Amino acid sequence: MADSWVNSAERIGADLHLELTGPGGRRAALIQALREAVRGGRLPPGTRLPPYRSLAADLGVARNTVADAYAELVAEGWLTARQGSGTRVALGIAGPTRHAGRTPPKAPPRARGPRHDLRQGTPDASAFPRAAWGTSYRRALQQAPHDAFGPGDPAGRRELREALAEYLARARGVRAEPDRIVICSGFAHALRLLAASGVLRGPLAVEEYGLGFHRDLLAGAGVRTVALPLDEDGARVEELGRERAVLLTPAHQFPTGGPLHASRRAAVIERVRARGGVLLEDDYDGEFRYDRKPLGAVQGLAPEHVIYIGSVSKSLSPALRLGWMVLPERQVAEVLAAKGEREGWASVLDQLSLADFLLCGAYDRHVRRMRQHYRGRRDRLVAALAERAPRIGVTGVAAGLHAVLRLPPGTEASAVKAAVWQGVALDGLSAFRHPAALTPPVDGLVVGYATPAEHAYGAALEALCGVLPPG
Ligand SMILES: Cc1ncc(COP(=O)(O)O)c(C=O)c1O
Repeated sequence: MADSWVNSAERIGADLHLELTGPGGRRAALIQALREAVRGGRLPPGTRLPPYRSLAADLGVARNTVADAYAELVAEGWLTARQGSGTRVALGIAGPTRHAGRTPPKAPPRARGPRHDLRQGTPDASAFPRAAWGTSYRRALQQAPHDAFGPGDPAGRRELREALAEYLARARGVRAEPDRIVICSGFAHALRLLAASGVLRGPLAVEEYGLGFHRDLLAGAGVRTVALPLDEDGARVEELGRERAVLLTPAHQFPTGGPLHASRRAAVIERVRARGGVLLEDDYDGEFRYDRKPLGAVQGLAPEHVIYIGSVSKSLSPALRLGWMVLPERQVAEVLAAKGEREGWASVLDQLSLADFLLCGAYDRHVRRMRQHYRGRRDRLVAALAERAPRIGVTGVAAGLHAVLRLPPGTEASAVKAAVWQGVALDGLSAFRHPAALTPPVDGLVVGYATPAEHAYGAALEALCGVLPPG
């Protein structure tokens, strides 16, 4: 027996859900539900109510119950009944009284952003390939088999896993069979899944500079992080303690910017292999390398000891929430169990769109175009600093969407403060430092050069140079 119904558009012009609950039988409950629908504005004045017979069938009540309820509400003045035009909500009935007699509340003032946004983290949002993505989206929608709209595979759509396996092998040197790929909604989601799955048993070694958000997320999931020192060759993996799992950004250390030296790549694999552990490889901006060919992923050296993680957050947009893990075969089942059967999926249409976007070559074209674009931005940043602040060192500029400006000792806090005053949003290097890092802190600024609109970039650079210490 149905206790509620969702009305179809042609019957009353709007969906309506009625709950027949409360004391006094079905008739009283229906009267109460209709009164509330009128009072709350879900049934506006003039709305035609469904005929007795169909409402009775929808609700699983007798036809007379509906007829009596309508009659009562007509008598009370809520409804009108006229030959030929059915039963309608009476005109002149006051709808919801939320704003009656009051001026509507003003929209809250929009927070004014900084004048120049040089925070790392986001790609150029104005360069999202709307037309090409739209084409892929339409094609994906048209070609999706019916089963795409039913309960799906927690590992993600096979079409996307196959397309990624091909792309990651070709572009990043990842050894990825589709069955070892699990689609997720980005790096942060991957970390959550790994923490929940038990893959990260015990403490996790992380680089001493990294995203605090990721450290907090791990701490919240019960994973303790241990700081691994860095030098110009990347993480000093020979100083790993007893941790079995290590999280690194080998292609472009985040945020300091260097690649992990080849000898250290081999060494970290040796360590995790010896301990039966695993390396989490965060390949967050691996496609954007400017002066040489992109460095291949460490995963290609030892697929059974590395969990390779990527997402479209830097290459397309962080708003899509689409990412992937390439897992050692033995860990696939564990991670899928943590993911569960029903929740935590990326939208199937986005997955199919990305599969199409990869297969038709649009992803490669977009990345190539953005690489040119960001390289141009990087060159302008380096040139502006060489001219206006020649004593400030710039590092980490061979790749990615941000640079690190090395400042004289003791000047970072005042430079960050000066930036705030000048409307320049950026972060000091210390904002990324692990609280338990042991090496002496370095003063610096992390400058993202992807975010400002093209026409505003010159002014942003000018403002940046204006807040730097004299050197
Ligand atoms: C170090 C690092 N890893 C990973 C990511 C990607 O995170 P997500 O895929 O959750 O957007 C980012 C930000 O884009 C990042 O800065």
